[in-house]
Amino acid sequence: YFIGVDLGTSSVKILVMDDKGQILSTVTKDYPLYFPKALWSEQNPQDWLEQSLVGIKEALLGLETSKVKAISFSGQMHGLVMLDSHDNVIRPAILWNDQRSIIETNYLNEEIGIDKLTSYTGNIAFPGFTAPKLLWVKENEPENFAKINKVMLPKDYLAYKMTGNFATDYADASGSLYLDVESKTWSQDMLEILGIEDAVLPKLYESYASIGTLSEEVSLYLGFDHEVTVTIGSGDQACAAVGGGVVSPGRCSVSLGTSGVVFVHSDTFIKDPNNGLHAFCHANGAYHLMGCMLSAAGSLKWWVEEILKSNDYDHLMDYAEEAKLDNGLYFLPYLMGERSPHNDPHARGVFWGLNLSHSQGDMTRAVIEGVAFGLRDSFEIVQSLGQEITEIRINGGGSKNDFWCQMIADVLSTKVVKLETDAGPAYGAAILAAVGSGQFESVKQACDTLIKTTDSYMPSETQAIAYDKKYKSFAKLYPALKALFP
Ligand code: XUL
Repeated sequence: YFIGVDLGTSSVKILVMDDKGQILSTVTKDYPLYFPKALWSEQNPQDWLEQSLVGIKEALLGLETSKVKAISFSGQMHGLVMLDSHDNVIRPAILWNDQRSIIETNYLNEEIGIDKLTSYTGNIAFPGFTAPKLLWVKENEPENFAKINKVMLPKDYLAYKMTGNFATDYADASGSLYLDVESKTWSQDMLEILGIEDAVLPKLYESYASIGTLSEEVSLYLGFDHEVTVTIGSGDQACAAVGGGVVSPGRCSVSLGTSGVVFVHSDTFIKDPNNGLHAFCHANGAYHLMGCMLSAAGSLKWWVEEILKSNDYDHLMDYAEEAKLDNGLYFLPYLMGERSPHNDPHARGVFWGLNLSHSQGDMTRAVIEGVAFGLRDSFEIVQSLGQEITEIRINGGGSKNDFWCQMIADVLSTKVVKLETDAGPAYGAAILAAVGSGQFESVKQACDTLIKTTDSYMPSETQAIAYDKKYKSFAKLYPALKALFP
């Protein structure tokens, strides 16, 4: 058996998979998320560890522990975990959705400058990334900065505490903004800017590499009397892509969760010259491009639950399907600002083109079209970089709706397929565990063997042409409104 642990922002999800890819058990354990001040978002790494261990034990109940070969991790990305020389956590972890480091982000993008930053790392700075958080600690909590003995990402804390090995992987480390993504080494220029030494950073591995075995103490607690291999694993986006089999050229995953993600494998390092997409290492040893929309299914949830005060998604989606495509109504899904491709925290949601003929169905349709068009913004950049996409693997809550899946196929003019097991990042982590234990030769071989697809949606030529026309109008709205957002 293989265990995948996905360290999320509200809970940790543990999944046990057999060697055929069947899921034997899943367990979810919550922990608190703290917002001590406006824009701050923190968690206690000790809570992650405690709940992960309790959850793993629970997930193994009734299963033969002697069959467990390996374990691996997926984790919320970008979070800053700092340990002192006694291995104590210095302060609560500062998470990916924490926005306190705006001044430091501006310093990196404007004073160090985007040209230098992208040549050092491959990417520009966001308050969510780790490097600006470290600069924030240096500036605002110098006594904590002085105590730093180790700096790591969230899932690396679990790996360290469970093995004693201080390790990370290239893909998760890509979101730190102190990894030189293309050469897969820590960027000495960035370390100098941050005022830290190599010695405080973990050893770098491929995400599917074994970093050792569970410590005796952890093995005893979990009831193992044999060695269990620990594979380092990766960030949640890369693990979700592995779990969806997006590990070879031509494949793209689209995630319709609260946020929306377009994720594309690339054999070689490529980057968007306008920095609309993240250019990161992938968990299969290659690279990937990623566009992240902040409000995807989150926009629909807001519209249905907050505005319409309903929960009847099925009927509302039926009305949306009955509405006409050429109804002249548009929705810009920037309810929380937007990351890809606009990188604009000031952008806001907009309904545009309303008239007296419009119904609830038209407005619901505009919301889900706006999300599909937002995904197309990132998808077009991917295509402009010469990546030919032949198949989209769709996942996340929004993908339960057939009409939305068909719309994505039409808007992106590409075949969309669903996965038989849509178990997300924890499934990808379990696959990485299997590869690290030697069960498969490569991540691709594991995915080809284990992952099965179900329904598929072929783009309709006439619909694709009609959406194309509508998208071209949609694409004019953000540039026209940009200066007007507060
Ligand atoms: C990726 C990102 C999120 C977090 C959330 O860049 O910020 O996916 O990893 O879990």
